[in-house]
Amino acid sequence: RRKYKNQYPEILSDISQIEFKSEESKLPAVSSDVKEKFSHTFSTKIASFYKSSVAQSKPSIKKVGVVLSGGQAPGGHNVICGMFDALHDKGVELHGFRMGPAGILKADYFRLTQKLIDSFRNTGGFDMLGSGRGKIESDQDLEKCLAILKDHQFDSLVVIGGDDSNTNAAVIAEYLKSKGEDDISVVGVPKTIDGDLQNDYVEMSFGFDSATKLYSELISNISRDAISAKKYYHFIRLMGRAASHITLECSLQTRPNIALISEENAAQNKTLNELVADIGEAVIDRANRGLNYGIILIPEGLIEQIPEFSHLIHELNQLLADEAGYIDTLISFSAKSEHINKKLNKDASYTLSSIPMNIQRQLFFDRDPHGNVQVSRIETEKLLLEMLEAYLDEKRAKGHFIGKFSSQTHFFGYEGRCVAPTNFDANYCYSLGRTAAAIAWQKWTGYMAVNSKLGLEPKDWEPKAIPISSMMAMETRNGKLKPVITKALVQVDRPAMECFKKHRSAWLKEDHYRFVGGIQYFGPSELCDQPPMVVQLDCEGK
Ligand code: FBP
Repeated sequence: RRKYKNQYPEILSDISQIEFKSEESKLPAVSSDVKEKFSHTFSTKIASFYKSSVAQSKPSIKKVGVVLSGGQAPGGHNVICGMFDALHDKGVELHGFRMGPAGILKADYFRLTQKLIDSFRNTGGFDMLGSGRGKIESDQDLEKCLAILKDHQFDSLVVIGGDDSNTNAAVIAEYLKSKGEDDISVVGVPKTIDGDLQNDYVEMSFGFDSATKLYSELISNISRDAISAKKYYHFIRLMGRAASHITLECSLQTRPNIALISEENAAQNKTLNELVADIGEAVIDRANRGLNYGIILIPEGLIEQIPEFSHLIHELNQLLADEAGYIDTLISFSAKSEHINKKLNKDASYTLSSIPMNIQRQLFFDRDPHGNVQVSRIETEKLLLEMLEAYLDEKRAKGHFIGKFSSQTHFFGYEGRCVAPTNFDANYCYSLGRTAAAIAWQKWTGYMAVNSKLGLEPKDWEPKAIPISSMMAMETRNGKLKPVITKALVQVDRPAMECFKKHRSAWLKEDHYRFVGGIQYFGPSELCDQPPMVVQLDCEGK
């Protein structure tokens, strides 16, 4: 696998021969608050890459740092390999910071060598450098970051991360510029299996393809088990945070009986009880036709988008931010819970008391450093199952349900984040690495490395540099209004979603399970090189 030859657009083969041409961005206009916060780096100009007739013989930069930030995503190593190949070729050193942004603040980095890079080509995981969810945000951290980059003579820092990490990259870029440090650039690379870092230019973040193909294989295997034994309903929760891109892609791949899409639920304003009743009636209907088994996919962020929970989480976030000091002084969970419950409004308090204690605990205190609820720790599939059982018991008592109901629950997340990248991700990441190196070479700061036209072959992808601040909006995080990259949720009218809606009732009534098998790395292109289905469908729909 290490010897797999990565494909990428020809223009990226020599970064010293690339010329940037600016054009006006097609992204929606951002608020004046964002512009103000990024007054030194804000731009709406995106840069396309063109081959220049003259190559620059002298390198404009000497030393570049790279950091992996946030959750693992297949292909991260290839971004670094792509950067290394593009820079090494020009005599530029590449250094890796260990364990995420915290490594920058500790100046914990090492020089990447050809031997090390070769041993990590096309491998999954982030273990070449390690990763972390730290952030560099306070004035003190920003000052330290500047001092370290300057003292250690870095010309550029490349941050490989999701929406929050790229937001952080833009914040660092702005800080450096505001302090007159025009010679150190900061570049972002769009990573996350969640697929929620998307817009007109970022068609898909890397890692999504590999993770969803791995989850689809697992779902297929469970579907085959279900149809063999015909005795269990499998409730499968899938990672993806607030967005349901992973669930949508896995549904198109595997055709489960039911797939919940959080964004659709939010658009329909469905309460938890209504959602459970929908699933319950579907189970009863299948039982009436002798089918006492099935596959149900649940996005991990569902809970955040059920209206009564979204209000509760909103109130909790504000309360936890306002009262953090006092809440910390309360020792036991019950004392904290009692205090918080007293402060919630009537509806939020009622919602809270309707859910099991362990889920209450997760909603209260499991926040990541960016203030996001850690939905990967909330067992929504178990909550739904518990409520469904109660619903079916009630129906059975009234003689409306005469079938059998047995279940198994699963959570697929971590098993997909470090799989060896698919050919698509291996190539995409490698190409993004070369793109990031080209932006660093040009000393452009506050930009994200992007490749578009991903539905085409890698040679036809279009590398671009997009100003990160142009993707931002003001949102409340940790109780404070901050500029952040807007998370891209599933658009309920996008072509991929239309395709799902067209087929889902047949998938529920009859079984149309699709057994996708394992990821194919070698063989015919139609088996090995296909981009995610959502990308293909959206591309065709454009
Ligand atoms: P990123 O947004 O950092 O890419 O992380 C994605 C993710 O895998 C989510 O799907 C999941 O909810 C979360 O990370 C889990 O976080 P952790 O690794 O901290 O448990």
